[in-house]
Amino acid sequence: MPIRPTEWEGVATDGPWLLTRNRVPGTSVYGESLPREGGIEYRRWDANRSKLAAYLKCGGRVWGFRATSSVLYLGAGSGTTASHVSDICRDGTITAVEISARAFRDLLRLAETRPNLVPVLGDATKPETYGGRLGAVDVLYQDVAQREQAGIFLKNLRWMRPGGTGYLVVKARSEDMAQAPARIFEAAKLELLNAGLKILDLRVLSPYQLDHAALVVQKT
Ligand SMILES: C[S@@+](CC[C@H](N)C(=O)[O-])C[C@H]1O[C@@H](n2cnc3c(N)ncnc32)[C@H](O)[C@@H]1O
Repeated sequence: MPIRPTEWEGVATDGPWLLTRNRVPGTSVYGESLPREGGIEYRRWDANRSKLAAYLKCGGRVWGFRATSSVLYLGAGSGTTASHVSDICRDGTITAVEISARAFRDLLRLAETRPNLVPVLGDATKPETYGGRLGAVDVLYQDVAQREQAGIFLKNLRWMRPGGTGYLVVKARSEDMAQAPARIFEAAKLELLNAGLKILDLRVLSPYQLDHAALVVQKT
């Protein structure tokens, strides 16, 4: 099928696959294939590897990412999803915070060829340690594998501008192994609602990502 744009800025599709335009042509980040059309190279965006891609494949419609967006990304890991955000926000800035030194090394390597990606070795529970250098970001995206994910997200919201879009990936198994995931997702939603956020979406990410949901909010 021919490659065509989607309703989500910076994201294309060839039918079965989501694609982002490769900001570093000729380079694959995690073994994804690089289809070309009309002289443009794209990267296949795998929903089994990336919760943001899974959000779109599961019917998510709220899209705060623009070509020039500034993004605070918490829990960037080795940069699988962050690399696609770097394609999408090609003229913006992605500040990618990661606590694990091992994953951070991969992020550093990725940033060598992606000047819009700024890796920070840091702890998302301590936003004051990295927030000062940020300015107000347009998008807050959080995917940290630990307890109290909603609390960490709320702490970091101070770095997002009013009207900005926040994505909280809730990993039920990191919160509580014993509780039903649906209850954990609802509890996280309530916590964000009680903090005065407007809830735009709550979407379970199965079958691509088991026991995960994406909560999307707007800061008023
Ligand atoms: C599921 S992985 C991230 C995958 C990545 N977001 C992606 O889609 O490519 C979760 C990451 O959160 C990181 N993490 C856990 N607690 C953290 C914290 N307090 N601050 C920053 N990162 C944290 C872990 O080291 C791990 O790399």
